Amino acid sequence: MPQDTPAVEMHGIVKQFPGVVANDHADLVVNAGEIHALLGENGAGKSTLMNVLAGLYLPDSGQIRVHGRVAKIRSPGEATRWGIGMVHQHFMLVEPQTVAENVILGLDRPRFRLDMPRIADGIRQLSTRYGMTVDPTAYVWQLSVGEQQRVEIIKMLYRGADILILDEPTAVLTPQEAEDLGNTLRQMVREGKAVIFITHKLDEVMSFADRVTVLRRGKTVANLVTAETTKVDLAREMVGREVVFHVDRSEYERPDTNGKSAHRMLAVEKLNALSDKGLPALRDVSFAVHQHEILGVAGVAGNGQRELAEVITGLRPASNGRVLLRDQDVTNRSPRRVIDLGMSHIPEDRMSTGLIANMTVCDNLILKDYRRPLLSRLGFILQRAVARFSDRLIDEYEIATPSRETVIKALSGGNLQKALLAREIACGGDLIIAVHPTRGLDVGATEWVQRKLLEQRQKGAAVLLISEDLDELLAVSDRVAVMYEGRIMGIVPYRQAHVEEIGLMMAGTAIEKTDPKDPHGIFEQTDLSGCQGESTS
Ligand SMILES: Nc1ncnc2c1ncn2[C@@H]1O[C@H](COP(=O)(O)OP(=O)(O)OP(=O)(O)O)[C@@H](O)[C@H]1O
Ligand SMILES: [Mg+2]
Repeated sequence: MPQDTPAVEMHGIVKQFPGVVANDHADLVVNAGEIHALLGENGAGKSTLMNVLAGLYLPDSGQIRVHGRVAKIRSPGEATRWGIGMVHQHFMLVEPQTVAENVILGLDRPRFRLDMPRIADGIRQLSTRYGMTVDPTAYVWQLSVGEQQRVEIIKMLYRGADILILDEPTAVLTPQEAEDLGNTLRQMVREGKAVIFITHKLDEVMSFADRVTVLRRGKTVANLVTAETTKVDLAREMVGREVVFHVDRSEYERPDTNGKSAHRMLAVEKLNALSDKGLPALRDVSFAVHQHEILGVAGVAGNGQRELAEVITGLRPASNGRVLLRDQDVTNRSPRRVIDLGMSHIPEDRMSTGLIANMTVCDNLILKDYRRPLLSRLGFILQRAVARFSDRLIDEYEIATPSRETVIKALSGGNLQKALLAREIACGGDLIIAVHPTRGLDVGATEWVQRKLLEQRQKGAAVLLISEDLDELLAVSDRVAVMYEGRIMGIVPYRQAHVEEIGLMMAGTAIEKTDPKDPHGIFEQTDLSGCQGESTS
């Protein structure tokens, strides 16, 4: 067989936005039948380059060829005609509609009547062929993030895409779901499709990509065969320097509390709550988090972690049980009240709960603080103080934005996350509820956030850290609680935590490692003296 022409060739792509060159003569060549990873730091221009290919942005210059033919892609509709489909970093599904309705959305409607059963059948066939379970009749709002993503993928396949772009698809998936997605993608390339996926997880690149392109500041800096490279090389290409993969927690040891237990910041007692579908999501959950402590919550997504964070922050009602903040009962209080009591919340979905897309960076940064005496007087916002405050955060948190007046939705995914972190940490909450705080961040920024959390802990904050990344949990937590089907399976001090045991608990096996008299550490912080002793030895 003669050498095949690549499925996609992008040459010298330039795309500018006011104040930024997002793509600066970027090149990308992807073959049919290959999984191609696109890597780069937050703001490197990955999403922009893919949005150009998907017809969302017109490039200022550069050329695109699809299967060897020059392609001018001026709209998503034209991209579809070229066989290009994209799953975006932030999903674009219509929540009140069913899966099937979403899949056909935007397709030319037949003149008379939609044959929904036939469409549903088509969806079922695709889902079997690629090993992705979805129910065509379910409503999108009822679906987990992982399920919504499958709908997005099926939507592309239904349109006959043979060049599939996935923008950070695994950022929102559990390890198991990520593996399933990997299998789905492999099936696609076996059929001769081309897959481009963006990720920050180097392990994933190594395990499922055939080739890798690395972008740095809008330019293509490397094009590598995965089998001939290493994680360390990839990180160096991305960042332009050597990267440390682990934060050194020994710098952040607990201060001496003179044998007394530290103050209890948050306690939940026999908490129960329902999920969106009206099923029990939390079952008798009890634990406490103290000052100078990070309590990690491990578990496969969908086992109640999200509901737990929502109940604590006042976004979801508890059906039973109590939430105590500094020993004050705040069960079912409004989020405003909880914020006023000093709770910070880094929510799971930064775009809908965390930030207001159409407001400026500056307004988003002061969203929680605008009533502070420093920033407003007699109900008027003090513009200059606000400007200073937000510039300081932009600087300190290294948020890449042309200015504080930029509409926040123009920022790259990782920079949105940094803005959210800046606001939540700077607003001085001494209890931080952090849900997947490093999701979507590049290796450098991840390291930086973990360091920030340890720093806050050092200053006396209590942190509840919900994460699916066991390495992250073990790197920063003092104790790790494991959730399974809405229950806490056990809480272990990190020094005694073994990945295998935590894995077993995540799969539903309870392991007794905790003090039987006080299994949830509610009354006393059982491990504090132990940690202290060990750390100084
Ligand atoms: N619509 C837009 N308007 C203005 N600036 C934009 C727009 N889209 C992207 N940018 C800017 O272009 C640069 C590249 O952004 P892009 O979203 O492509 O980065 P990325 O590599 O996908 O980063 P991340 O890993 O954080 O998602 C960033 O500085 C971003 O702020
Ligand atoms: Mg992006």
